Amino acid sequence: MSVQVIVGSQWGDEGKGKITDILAEKMDLVVRYQGGNNAGHTVVVGKETFKLHHIPSGILNDSCVSIMANGVVLDPEVLLKEMNGLKKRGIAVNPSKFKLSSIAHVILPFHKTLDSNQESNREGEKIGTTGRGIGPAYTDKIARFGVRAMDLLKPEFLKKQIMKKSWLTGIGVTEKDIDDVVIEFHKYGKELEPYIIDTSLYINEAIKAGKRVILEGAQGTMLDVDHGTYPFVTSSNPISGAATTGTGIGPQLIEGVMGVTKAYVTRVGEGPFPTELLDETGEALRDKGGEYGTTTNRPRRCGWLDLVVLRYAIRVNGLTEICLTKLDVLDGQESVKICTNYVYNNEKVEHFPLDLDVFNECEPEYVELPGWDEDISKITDFEKLPENAKTFVDYVEQAVGVKVSMVSVGPNRVQTIFKND
Ligand code: IMP
Repeated sequence: MSVQVIVGSQWGDEGKGKITDILAEKMDLVVRYQGGNNAGHTVVVGKETFKLHHIPSGILNDSCVSIMANGVVLDPEVLLKEMNGLKKRGIAVNPSKFKLSSIAHVILPFHKTLDSNQESNREGEKIGTTGRGIGPAYTDKIARFGVRAMDLLKPEFLKKQIMKKSWLTGIGVTEKDIDDVVIEFHKYGKELEPYIIDTSLYINEAIKAGKRVILEGAQGTMLDVDHGTYPFVTSSNPISGAATTGTGIGPQLIEGVMGVTKAYVTRVGEGPFPTELLDETGEALRDKGGEYGTTTNRPRRCGWLDLVVLRYAIRVNGLTEICLTKLDVLDGQESVKICTNYVYNNEKVEHFPLDLDVFNECEPEYVELPGWDEDISKITDFEKLPENAKTFVDYVEQAVGVKVSMVSVGPNRVQTIFKND
């Protein structure tokens, strides 16, 4: 398949980084189409662990070009640090391996201040943002006074554009502060200049030339600003449709959409979560799964796999296949539960309710499957999994009607089962 989208089907942190890294071996381009450094990808290569926020994990593959397309928001300081950190560890990061869209919007220090001010003012309804300035940067983009990567190279225009932000005075920003930021960000722009291109043109030409492309979404379906658990969402569209606006390619070019789905569910930040486990099982999943945020180190909330959410993700993303991750984390559970539907007002609910007040009150109904004792983290052949683990995977596949093509049983590249091979 030459153009494939990879999305998270839950609330993010499903393990997309690892899966993208593996698929990147067979790919020529890995493109991120939305989000910023609120995302965090942990990728384990041999004995080395890489934590990436901005650069797609394809960068760890020598033959792959990594692209931050127009739909992302970028913090140039963080990006440059990440690039230098990778270079120091011997990873090639150069303009032929890494490209940045000239029209990707830029996160300014003022956006971060506004992000945390807004969060502290949200009494009783905190979103739990990562505080990276993502929401305010996207707000400015839509309000048409955003700053784009190419604008960093034009200091006068940059200042003019920043001065249009009338909200700056409200957070005590002076003209001197703006001048300082213009100098600093122009410097970042000069450093990034060799990487800045028209990525839509580049990607389209690559597709025409028969190159194989992954379009990688950050976060997950339920954090989508339109289709997620609004307002407890991020400020962009992680769903697959955004892969076209976020890159500038036509939808007819996309040949498949893989939904990366954890074998249980986690969520960082606030908002309803019907299958959340507030008991020792939840703690066990957190400990075994290392469920602490890559970006903020916050403990993630853990719960059982939720098929209402998965079916919704299949619908809004058009998932053509599922990659089930972290199945090994369920090792040793006497039994494992899967939420098949909710109950609200004594009625069965099979579709994700858009009204958050309803979602909040939904009680999950579960099917309980027998667990397995074996350590499955070294198994690479689906048939060699314990019967109960296979039943778990088969159950999910049959219940949602989409094939599970990959199963991940650990953080390393080798801990991956290609089910249909
Ligand atoms: P923001 O994107 O930083 O504004 O955060 C909005 C919500 O999305 C918060 O609940 C965050 O915890 C969540 N979020 C943002 N990025 C990620 C991610 O990469 N993984 C999981 N949750 C995320």
